[in-house]
Amino acid sequence: MTKFKSSKQKNRILVTSALPYSNGPIHLGHLVEYIQTDIFVRFLRLIGEDVLFVCADDTHGAPIEIKAAELGISPEEMISKVYNEHVQDFKDFLISFDNYYTTNSPENKHYSDLIFARLKEKGFIYTKDIEVTYCGHCKRTLPDRYVKGKCPKCNAPDQYGDVCESCNAAYKTIDLIEPYCAICKNKPVRKISKHYFFKLSKFSNKLESWLTKNKNLQPEIKNFVFNWIKNGLEDWNISRDGPYFGFKIPGEEDKYYYVWLDAPIGYIASTDNYCKNHGLNTEDYWNSKDSRIYHFIGKDIIYFHFLFWPAMLLGSDFQLPYDIPVHGFLTVNGEKMSKSRGTFFTAREFLQKRNPEHLRFYYASLISKTMSDIDLNFNEFGNKINNELVANISNFCYRVLNFLNKNFDGNIKDIDTNKELINEVKQKAKDIEKNYHELNFNEALKGILHISSLGNKYFQDNEPWKLINDDREKVHKILGLCVNIAKNLSILIEPILPNVSSNLQKQLDVSNLKWQDINFELKNHKVGRDEILVRKIEEKPEQKFQLNLKVAKILDVRGHPNADKLYILDIDLGAEKRQLVAGLKGHYTPEELKNKKIVVLTNLKYAKLRGVESQGMLLAGDDGSNVGVLTADESNPGDKAYFEGYQYSNKEISFEDFLKTKMEVKNKKVYFENKELKTDKETIMAEKVNDGAKVR
Ligand code: 2FM
Ligand code: ZN
Repeated sequence: MTKFKSSKQKNRILVTSALPYSNGPIHLGHLVEYIQTDIFVRFLRLIGEDVLFVCADDTHGAPIEIKAAELGISPEEMISKVYNEHVQDFKDFLISFDNYYTTNSPENKHYSDLIFARLKEKGFIYTKDIEVTYCGHCKRTLPDRYVKGKCPKCNAPDQYGDVCESCNAAYKTIDLIEPYCAICKNKPVRKISKHYFFKLSKFSNKLESWLTKNKNLQPEIKNFVFNWIKNGLEDWNISRDGPYFGFKIPGEEDKYYYVWLDAPIGYIASTDNYCKNHGLNTEDYWNSKDSRIYHFIGKDIIYFHFLFWPAMLLGSDFQLPYDIPVHGFLTVNGEKMSKSRGTFFTAREFLQKRNPEHLRFYYASLISKTMSDIDLNFNEFGNKINNELVANISNFCYRVLNFLNKNFDGNIKDIDTNKELINEVKQKAKDIEKNYHELNFNEALKGILHISSLGNKYFQDNEPWKLINDDREKVHKILGLCVNIAKNLSILIEPILPNVSSNLQKQLDVSNLKWQDINFELKNHKVGRDEILVRKIEEKPEQKFQLNLKVAKILDVRGHPNADKLYILDIDLGAEKRQLVAGLKGHYTPEELKNKKIVVLTNLKYAKLRGVESQGMLLAGDDGSNVGVLTADESNPGDKAYFEGYQYSNKEISFEDFLKTKMEVKNKKVYFENKELKTDKETIMAEKVNDGAKVR
């Protein structure tokens, strides 16, 4: 068992979650970590620890600069809008940061320059000329993700500069065949540029000994970090050429710190910003034997937090982390979250339909200190909330308070001296404390549910509704004991369900209870009005979308032998080729159609049209006078075309079924119930037709 500090020793604790990027919304995957960290922090506060919980938006880097340019706004404007959204999302999910800041801050510039200067002075930073990919048209060096071309291994077109999505091969950007700039499509050139490198290799021994001595870090993670060290650490390029959104390197005209240099320094900067505003001392957290630093992270950023970051801290005389709890990824219904499968949810979308504390409860039931992925299964989600939170905890508290209010006007006096039950609750509370401490929230929650079950059973077995006629005094004591159990539950669940906890405490007419209030000493007390604590969720079946739409490339077009208005098309659907019959004669010439990437309905029952089989149907807009196909220039054959937010059905459908889905063209885009038709790469466009055109 971990040794906890003795209560006399006063340790300051600093806790961080990873900083989310400023280029997109908080989603359910992010929330695993923020909820995990928040549960831990709330627990520490509850047991009386001196804890500071800081985080910030991670605002710098090429993607942010490029996205802002695309939107025609300044990066500052973009990050400030996203900042406000993030803050609101965190607030609504009850994430209790003491400080939520930004890496684009004066404090962060100060600490980045300070750390850079210290590392440089000690000889840990040097410069070297390297080859970069440069777009003459955009006048910028291109990061890996902004160069595309044919995969050097399998020849698949339109692959990124680092890995091929088709064959999974990893390669260097300069090995791409026929490379082009992802922004302007022009051919980039190679260029020599001076860059700053951090001598990570110099820290191998110190890192190894820190990892060996630190007993809090997860052993499975240490193991592969040891392996990385054993295989030799490469020095790290910590600079980027402009245009870039970030902090300029001192003495340079157009070079910036790489975002991953200043991002973790954002932990210090956010602490500093808080300390300045609260009369505290940043050094007391970052440079003191009396403090402990916890960084909560996901398994995708282990390298940065177990190697680069501690090496930077070592080289600039800051304190190393006490623990770096690493969690796994989130899957939804057993698969990677995906927009096209309708399983990608932002925090905001979740809040529109569901209760944030339900997610906290569900995640807590799965989180422990391991790297294994956790799955959000919407069937289990509903069952868990209804069977555990509602039927167990909420039900116990409600029946006790309701019975007490009805029969004793809400007053308890003494409690039933059921030693066995009292001791079992006390023992379980100790186990729960240990499990919270060790980040095994799944076990902590099991313990809480166990206590609540004990309460329910005790109430049920005593049948107070019958006993009250024979022994009113005994029933009064039984309720006294039950109220104490409910009070203890309100404390035990606080880290996971802060609102449920305060609501329950309000009903009990107590407030702000701490861990030390877990006892059986509440007597001669009048409770408040009872109310159902958590209501059952009625799951509406997921909305199904019946059309299975895919991008296809037209390979060949010829006239139909028996019909004037029809063409026969050969199409490529990625994994298969098919033949379609389409009424496009008079609207398109065969040459206009050939090589176009269009959208095809693939699960329509095959039909013979004037003697020729059509294996599906192409979609086109029709406004009464013009007919225009739907195009997807940026996508690949076989890519899914979809409206966000639906579960997709693959069932074969009839033409009559198809007609039930009413899609319409507005501003050249295709809409169904206010959602636009898109692929993962682009919005689908309808050619030729005017607003209001029907899609068929
Ligand atoms: O991976 C990410 O989302 C990064 N923005 C995390 C940064 S954490 C810290 F090091 F700043
Ligand atoms: Zn370009």
